[in-house]
Amino acid sequence: MSSQLELFHVQEAYSRAQKPLSNEELYESVAEIAGIPQSALSEQSEIGKARVKRSKLKRKIRWYQQTLKTLNLLERVEGERGVWQLSQENKKGLHEALGGVRLLAYSTNLGLAVWSSNKTLFADLNEPVHLCVTSPPYPLRIQRGYGNVAESQWVDFITEALEPIVKNLVPGGSVVLNISNDIFEPKRPSRSLYVERMVIALHDRLGLSLMDRWPWVNLSKPPSPTHWACVNRQQLCSGWEPVFWFTNDPERVRSDNRRVLQPHTEKHQQLMRQGGDSRVASYGDGAYRLRGNAFSAVTEGRIPKNVIHRGHRCADTIEVRRVAKELGLPPHPAMFPTDIPEFAIRFLTEEGDLVVDPFSGSNKSGLAAERNNRRWVACDLVLEYIRTQAELFTSFPGFWLNPALAMVGSSAKN
Ligand SMILES: C[S@@+](CC[C@H](N)C(=O)[O-])C[C@H]1O[C@@H](n2cnc3c(N)ncnc32)[C@H](O)[C@@H]1O
Repeated sequence: MSSQLELFHVQEAYSRAQKPLSNEELYESVAEIAGIPQSALSEQSEIGKARVKRSKLKRKIRWYQQTLKTLNLLERVEGERGVWQLSQENKKGLHEALGGVRLLAYSTNLGLAVWSSNKTLFADLNEPVHLCVTSPPYPLRIQRGYGNVAESQWVDFITEALEPIVKNLVPGGSVVLNISNDIFEPKRPSRSLYVERMVIALHDRLGLSLMDRWPWVNLSKPPSPTHWACVNRQQLCSGWEPVFWFTNDPERVRSDNRRVLQPHTEKHQQLMRQGGDSRVASYGDGAYRLRGNAFSAVTEGRIPKNVIHRGHRCADTIEVRRVAKELGLPPHPAMFPTDIPEFAIRFLTEEGDLVVDPFSGSNKSGLAAERNNRRWVACDLVLEYIRTQAELFTSFPGFWLNPALAMVGSSAKN
């Protein structure tokens, strides 16, 4: 009978009860949820060397209960012995690491992921950081499952989250943030200035200099802003998001565009072969001149333009969704394609450098770092997302999964 039992049955018993449960109440409820007859609870067998007679089923329920306690998903009810209740569960039923919870979830030879709030994790991480690349929750009015911070508090929220990381940033290290351009003033088709306020706050409070704004042109975005473009018709549909690049020391910035060169176009290759453009001309009042041999130098590749053209489709996103479904967990609702952090990682860091993502979601940043031989540290507040990300790392050298985390999700992976 105990083989029918799953961790989720125990969790479900607490969540159905909506009140604290004594162990006796827990046993009964779990049996009902798991479809095990109540009579099975009193069946006893000899356990251990001492061959003491005990209920194996109850023991397994207590064991799962213990796992939930280890994951901080259960909290003791004050003043009542042996009575436990579910700890913080957010509105959409996702489990958040609140109150300083920090659990090493999984690791590889190059990186580690922690179920934790970024403040808890990075306050104690005294390791030089070369790049922070991340996409924080946007100040959206319609909340995502993981919650969003109100626009009025957002600048404080992001500066507080980045502060402990920036303290550890090596000279010339970078911070790259993908945020939204589509936050509107209440009841108006005009955009919020939170982005501008963020740039100034990161400069004034954290000493970060703005290196660039990379427009991420994403023409596969669904039509939005729905109200202002599709209903009211005063706005155009959004086709891009900003990616901001900051550094703490522009004079020593560690970027190198030779790490992200793109192949030359066929036309440029032909120019190099034929010794360049033979025209002699001057444009823009002499600002640009062709001297008869322009583009003749044979170079390794094309320096990328500071615009990212990229749709949302990404093989890793598809895999994250597949894994989440297999585990019976909610898929992450706001993933960026791995190419976004990968471009930043290759451009701004060298092999062996440390990349961090304090809002990791599906941990595309860790994945890109791992594939490019960079070290990485990532965290997320939501247990379900951390559990799902782990499955994308199983084939990397040194993969280790915390056994307590392995029990989150349906039996398919247990
Ligand atoms: C926009 S999503 C990141 C998506 C990610 N870039 C991806 O591609 O999957 C923001 C994430 O930040 C997490 N989060 C929000 N507040 C947090 C906090 N204080 N500490 C750690 N993670 C947090 C949310 O759970 C959510 O997964």
